[in-house]
Amino acid sequence: MNKQLLNRRQFSGRCAALAFAVPVSSSMSAIAAHAQAPAAGAAPKVHTVKFPDGTTVPAVGQGSWHLGQGKHPRSVEEEALRTGIALGMTVIDTSENYGDGASEQFIGRAIAGQRDRVFLVTKVEPENTAGNGIARACRASMAQLGTDHLDLYLLHAPVPASRLSDVVAKFETLRAEGKIRAWGVSNFNVDQMEALFKVPDGHRCATNQVLYNLKNRYIERDLLPWCAQHAMPVMAYTPLGGNNGSLVRDPSLAEVGAQRGYSAAALALAWVIRSGTVIAIPESGSPAHVKENAAALTMW
Ligand SMILES: NC(=O)c1ccc[n+]([C@@H]2O[C@H](COP(=O)([O-])OP(=O)(O)OC[C@H]3O[C@@H](n4cnc5c(N)ncnc54)[C@H](OP(=O)(O)O)[C@@H]3O)[C@@H](O)[C@H]2O)c1
Repeated sequence: MNKQLLNRRQFSGRCAALAFAVPVSSSMSAIAAHAQAPAAGAAPKVHTVKFPDGTTVPAVGQGSWHLGQGKHPRSVEEEALRTGIALGMTVIDTSENYGDGASEQFIGRAIAGQRDRVFLVTKVEPENTAGNGIARACRASMAQLGTDHLDLYLLHAPVPASRLSDVVAKFETLRAEGKIRAWGVSNFNVDQMEALFKVPDGHRCATNQVLYNLKNRYIERDLLPWCAQHAMPVMAYTPLGGNNGSLVRDPSLAEVGAQRGYSAAALALAWVIRSGTVIAIPESGSPAHVKENAAALTMW
């Protein structure tokens, strides 16, 4: 493929075309507003997102819900993850419950020898948060991942508001001990974020990981603006529409992307990260797909 960076005018044109093809309306203009033509010969700009503590990460990472569980041959999936890391998709997202720990184990093996290059994110299930459950779950995840610290530790789904202060206190203890660098939540709505910010240290939440893609834009109504107001980046899961491949096979995306040598997947990811405050975590166990996805990091 003759892949070329889109300059501002080209990106605007493609976005306008997409706005007719898929229900993206005004937000496509946001991409165009950020699009910049690179200076001749200059290295393409890698899009990044900044966490409240100043830590900056690439705006496209890698998910792992189904990895290490036989969807692809293990060696192929390992090559895919390592290819992604080499291409700059260094945020790796997993969870204690993905494949009952198989995903964490897979990642631990795949990143052996290059832990320092990776921003490692895993999650604790709400049912494991009582008593010393969070500390225990964190220890188990670190053992599976072969690391002595997590870069980001998320509560996978909301707990009742009455439990939030305890959960935050446990996260803060792990942070003080150096076992986690930051903590956050997942699948919280605005009311739940408000409740979180009312408990001591709740405002230290680094992110909220939620569903977001071209065909699931529900969070734009209130959660995305809320997070922006609180200077909190969002992690977008299922950015390609998930296993049914609805976006990667979208003919309009494919047509617009093909005009400049990008895949539908890369275009869908570029759309998700367009604001500069969203990190997309597409999953792939295919090295070829990972290469396509990495193109979103520098598309415009
Ligand atoms: N916090 C939560 O509650 C939550 C919920 C869901 C997901 N997540 C996280 O988000 C990650 C991503 O979400 P997801 O797995 O639901 O969906 P996704 O990333 O939107 O889509 C994954 C699917 O797209 C395919 N794919 C990837 N790149 C492709 C490409 N360039 N061309 C064609 N197909 C491509 C993958 O197949 P191949 O492997 O064959 O490429 C896979 O079937 C998960 O792995 C997980 O880490 C979090």
